[in-house]
Amino acid sequence: QSARVYVTRKVPPDGLEVLRKSGRVQFELWDTDDPVPRAELLKKVRGVDGLLCVLTEKVDAELLDAAGPGLKVVSTMSVGYDHLSLEELKKRGIRVGYTPDVLTDAVAELTVALLLCTSRRLVEATHEAKTYWRLGHLEDAKRFTIHFPGLGICVAIAERLKPFKVKKFIYTDVAPRPELANMINAEYVSMDELAQQSDFLTICCALTPETQGICNKNLFSKMKETSIFINTSRGGVVNQDDLYEALATGQIAGAGLDVTTPEPLPTSHPLFTLKNCVILPHIASASYTTRNAMSVLAANNLLAGLRGEPMEKELKL
Ligand code: GLV
Ligand code: GLV
Repeated sequence: QSARVYVTRKVPPDGLEVLRKSGRVQFELWDTDDPVPRAELLKKVRGVDGLLCVLTEKVDAELLDAAGPGLKVVSTMSVGYDHLSLEELKKRGIRVGYTPDVLTDAVAELTVALLLCTSRRLVEATHEAKTYWRLGHLEDAKRFTIHFPGLGICVAIAERLKPFKVKKFIYTDVAPRPELANMINAEYVSMDELAQQSDFLTICCALTPETQGICNKNLFSKMKETSIFINTSRGGVVNQDDLYEALATGQIAGAGLDVTTPEPLPTSHPLFTLKNCVILPHIASASYTTRNAMSVLAANNLLAGLRGEPMEKELKL
């Protein structure tokens, strides 16, 4: 007997193929590149056994109640899980799959792209090329810092930066992570030292109650005027008012953001008025190969969950 599944986005073809081939699921799909409207989602999940979602869907008590007691598995096509209410899922005994690792290379690449783009002021430069043809310069990279080496993304970033002859990598976390740090010869420092010493500070931690707003006035005020801040994790780790202030007053030199609060960021947002802030529409994992791999992993997690078998990548609740 086949399980009923709702898929909340037009996920890449390889993942859908896994679902089709299994012969075990009957799935309905929100067949567009835009998020499914909440009201539609609440209607569609009624009575399903499984949900394959992306990070724009808030999976909370309301949604789980709408789905009903038959829901056994939620599989998110993302490494981040701040859109999932883990407590509510745990309470109901629902298993949760996610997609770490397969996107590490793509996210690391995009982070390095943002770092080079902001430090060499490429977006401004394309504008200058068309107008006045002159632009100041910023310091070359001397130190790069890694922050909260969640899921190895920071290691992948550092490995890609080594050929740029970065002098030193430093990082912080709630405790030293020698098994990761040794791979890139990174030194463990306090959060304050990280802010004070970094020429580039990049953050790639998960958004949790502990990391909410940790990049704030306090952090920016300790950074050097020549430093650049990069965020490819979640907008919520940054206090955006404080970041705006730091950028507008020259307290730090620039920022590259793949993530914001909210997403999309309204075009009237003050951050868009700043020349020293490059904003991208959350595209770090958005390469065809990576998104396809994420969809396959998410589909396999879902199927394993429905069969009551161990998932390839399951969140421990
Ligand atoms: C991307 O932001 C993800 O969580 O997969
Ligand atoms: C996710 O972006 C992580 O590194 O934890």
